[in-house]
Amino acid sequence: MSDNSTITLTEKEFSLFRELIYKEAGISLGQGKQQLIESRLSKRLRAFNLTSFIQYYKYLNENDRNGEERLKMINALTTNKTDFFREQHHFDYLRSSVFPMLEKRAKETGERKIRIWSAACSTGEEPYTLAMSVLDHFGPTSFHGWDIRILASDVDTDVLAHAQKGVYAADRVTDVPKEILKRHFVKTSKDPEAPFQVRPEVQELVTFRRINFIEPQWPINTYFDIIFCRNVMIYFDEVTQDRLLTRFSDQLVPCGHLFIGHSESILRLDQLYTSLGSTMYRLSGGVGAASRKKYEDATLPPASDEPAQPRSGNSEKPAQSSTPRRATSHVRGTEVAASMQPQIALDSDVRVPAHSIIVGEVKASRNPLKVTTLLGSCVGVGLYDPKVRIGGMNHFMLPNNSSGDGTSATYGIHAMELLINEIMKLGGDRRRLIAKVFGGGDVLGKRASGTPGLSIGEQNIQFALQFLETDSIPVVAKDIGGTTGRQIQFLAHTGQAFVRPVPRVDEMCEEDMQKIRRSARAAAAEETCVVLF
Ligand SMILES: C[S@@+](CC[C@H](N)C(=O)[O-])C[C@H]1O[C@@H](n2cnc3c(N)ncnc32)[C@H](O)[C@@H]1O
Repeated sequence: MSDNSTITLTEKEFSLFRELIYKEAGISLGQGKQQLIESRLSKRLRAFNLTSFIQYYKYLNENDRNGEERLKMINALTTNKTDFFREQHHFDYLRSSVFPMLEKRAKETGERKIRIWSAACSTGEEPYTLAMSVLDHFGPTSFHGWDIRILASDVDTDVLAHAQKGVYAADRVTDVPKEILKRHFVKTSKDPEAPFQVRPEVQELVTFRRINFIEPQWPINTYFDIIFCRNVMIYFDEVTQDRLLTRFSDQLVPCGHLFIGHSESILRLDQLYTSLGSTMYRLSGGVGAASRKKYEDATLPPASDEPAQPRSGNSEKPAQSSTPRRATSHVRGTEVAASMQPQIALDSDVRVPAHSIIVGEVKASRNPLKVTTLLGSCVGVGLYDPKVRIGGMNHFMLPNNSSGDGTSATYGIHAMELLINEIMKLGGDRRRLIAKVFGGGDVLGKRASGTPGLSIGEQNIQFALQFLETDSIPVVAKDIGGTTGRQIQFLAHTGQAFVRPVPRVDEMCEEDMQKIRRSARAAAAEETCVVLF
């Protein structure tokens, strides 16, 4: 096969690759994109000397054990157009309104800290423009006691590798105003093709990471004051857009700002965000996140010296490996909880009707409703359909009844089905559900005492995660494991969740304890081997 020969992508192959890129990156390619896939993937076929797209598809499914080639396929199919100071009015608004507001907040709280996320940053022009705007407004941040960090992420490892270098061709900077070019770039002779290097103080503000939006867990342990997610949702369908926007709302501080692309909208989620005009939004007050009394803010993951591009050998052929492509979920007590806890706010303080559930109960609603519960070793799963804004939560005590005849929602297997059915009865769609998982604490200290085997809490967590994985319901947040109890508030109409740790069971209010004791007695009649708190 010569390098220039064209291999035709048949209709059938086109639909296979459309499904694959949707599954891998949420990218929804319309019918008219057959030629685009054909031309963008043909270089991957050439790399393996393949003569048809179906051979490449089989290679991806049968031989790509470490997922390296899938990354290259995703890289080939993403569209990475970007510019410095793209949609200038967003940066003007940062300087005129958002930065002054954050300065005011810092005066009130004494905390001079700002976190910004350039989500889908492509080759780096967007996060570096943000960094330049920060430096121009705040001055050299470390000199003035400010702690400002920008997380820049993308699914495409090639663009991340480019971004991390911070060098650009002359035609990439033609629209950058002269004084900014002088202030924030240096000329370099290292690469004649890319003579403009972003200055070190600009680069130092930015941390690059590969983050695929559709992964159920993001490796982020902070809340953001500002999220830029521009010109990427246009590649997603409505379900994926709504999931993403809901997850961003969980990742923003109260009154945090979201900036989206000029042809994107938050139409179906206007409850969560308040429009500030021109594709700029602020997290709405009174729907949960904006009412958080307190939020935890850990630092961004430390900047790595490693290039963002995954390591590969000299050969184009992916190395064979026995490592599975995706790590499977497994329960590791406190470590699981510790890694996820900061992603969940502490208290909703929302003025909506509340409904408290106890073990064995399920509650779903399409109207504003705060479903609350107390969990020790039990697990509660919140499910939410972002399109129709219907959600609910269950509370179960054991994965299943070993005698096999129980149909009570005390057992996870029934509690999950019941909740899904309730949501569907109200108009939700099982295929659109997203999940948040809570509880499963080792409140009896089984781990600490060294007792072998999984604790009840760990069994419950394992069950919930496996059930959701089997049903392809993405887990978008979790606060699980550890050794404490938890009070959960789940907003059925927004899908937001709030967790308050209950360090000692005896700190739970007496009324709740009585309910729990009552249900424990009822459950004990069904199953003698029950451990509750
Ligand atoms: C058109 S660029 C937008 C760049 C920049 N935000 C801007 O507005 O100039 C879209 C970017 O979204 C990234 N992208 C596509 N699917 C993604 C996913 N599932 N997760 C994260 N990034 C994704 C692509 O790799 C690409 O770099």
